[in-house]
Amino acid sequence: MSTSDRGRAFESSANASTDGARVRIFDTTLRDGEQSPGCSMSPQQKLVMARALDELGVDVIETGFPASSQSDREAAAMIARELREPTLCVLSRCLPADIEASARALEGSAKPRLHLFLSTSPLHREHKLRMSKQQVLDAIATNVAHARRLVDDVEFSPEDGIRTEHDFLAEACAVAIANGASTINVPDTLGYTTPQEIRALFEFLISTVPGARDVVFSAHCHNDLGMAVANSLAAIEGGARQVECTINGIGERAGNCALEELVMALKVRNAWFEADTGIDTQRLLPTSQLLTRLIGMPVQRNKAIVGANAFAHESGIHQHGMLRHRGTYEIMRPEDVGWPDSQMVLGRHSGRAAVAHRLRALGYTLEDEQLDQVFADFKTLCEQQRVIDDGDLEALMHGDTRGEGFRLASMTVSDRGQRASAQVELSDPDGKRVSESALGDGPVDALFAALSAATGVKLTLESYQVHSVGIGADARGEANLSVRCDDGSGDSRGYEGTGTSRDIIEASALAWLDIANRVLRARRNADADVVAA
Ligand code: KIV
Ligand code: ZN
Repeated sequence: MSTSDRGRAFESSANASTDGARVRIFDTTLRDGEQSPGCSMSPQQKLVMARALDELGVDVIETGFPASSQSDREAAAMIARELREPTLCVLSRCLPADIEASARALEGSAKPRLHLFLSTSPLHREHKLRMSKQQVLDAIATNVAHARRLVDDVEFSPEDGIRTEHDFLAEACAVAIANGASTINVPDTLGYTTPQEIRALFEFLISTVPGARDVVFSAHCHNDLGMAVANSLAAIEGGARQVECTINGIGERAGNCALEELVMALKVRNAWFEADTGIDTQRLLPTSQLLTRLIGMPVQRNKAIVGANAFAHESGIHQHGMLRHRGTYEIMRPEDVGWPDSQMVLGRHSGRAAVAHRLRALGYTLEDEQLDQVFADFKTLCEQQRVIDDGDLEALMHGDTRGEGFRLASMTVSDRGQRASAQVELSDPDGKRVSESALGDGPVDALFAALSAATGVKLTLESYQVHSVGIGADARGEANLSVRCDDGSGDSRGYEGTGTSRDIIEASALAWLDIANRVLRARRNADADVVAA
């Protein structure tokens, strides 16, 4: 889909009706998202992310807060020089120096926007700004007018708008509009509101603020009570025609409204909301995964739309339903958000039908008796292993068992010299001892290199996560690895492995060996098939 096909042209009367309304997606991953702990990006990384957001079809990209750092100024300027299609926006306090720094950072941009904010709530007025209501109104008037002299497109946000007296909030919005703001963004800065409340607030503002029908009202919801997406949807019902959100919902504290969730809610429940976005939804997963790689912050497995479990089914009843009709347990198609397909995860909860189905896909059509035997072996294997993959099923078909692999006898890891070193001793499938040592860029890198030398298996690490399972004296470390491994024909196959131990380095070694043993078993079975043929 080309960028122009995505239809970034907006309806002219922004708040006129909800019939087939066009909701603008304002992405603030690079500003509100990036300013939260663990999410910072270099200017080059921001540029890479901005290109992906453009591809995704967002209408506005907020690229940073130029007055806050040199890095933000550089990133905003680099993006402004390159991207022509989306509106590029930067944030400023209501201070002339901030506004001028912002305007400079946007020089050369095809569609620049200045975004000004000033707190309006009583708590912020008294404790943060130490300003009276009149001083706040005057500052909005002067600074919005100043911004408008520099750039045509100006957005104003009354910070902590949700906790502001409604009459004063309406007055602040009216002053911003009278001085040239064409977008009024109402932030739920603290993630405090509820759907009913924010919907009523938007209805109130749009029906009472002078000039409201000539501008775009926007929602900016934080997720402190887990309601950012629900509140943004309710704001749309109340007349908002722009939503500010971030990829994976990153942002201050509990984050911002998650773009992927909001967009899919509007798409899947289009008959209810009667509102569309210009997002190319098939780009949602790749964009989410790009952000994860850039900032190193994975999303939880059960995260809506982009989590690993979002389209994965393990329970027998669900798998059986899915095999008959995918609509039984899916409300959207995984392909529509960028996943290749639904995933039938075979594990302890899976039934015979799903195992038989997967075996048929692998080329094995079994008689009932044979299937009984394989299914019984499958259940036994599930007692030792959480997930059974295709390699494991092949092994079951060949009567191969999990016990025959490399086992960890001992290991030492040291991180004292210039490079970390690791030494491992394994017992091989014939019971012989094998020892190897290796250096690496850190203890885990050295450990995996030593294991690779000892087993002859080369794995390319895609993700590595360690977390604690259990509490107190019973706590154990669990390591989860995702890798790719060349299957010998030039193709590579993905594997996931888990290891648990009181020591997280040992848990990592066990996870690595779990995968290596499955790779070796798959190779043995492939060789046996060649001999049999
Ligand atoms: O949450 C907030 O209030 C903000 C504003 C600066 C828009 O991010
Ligand atoms: Zn915010």
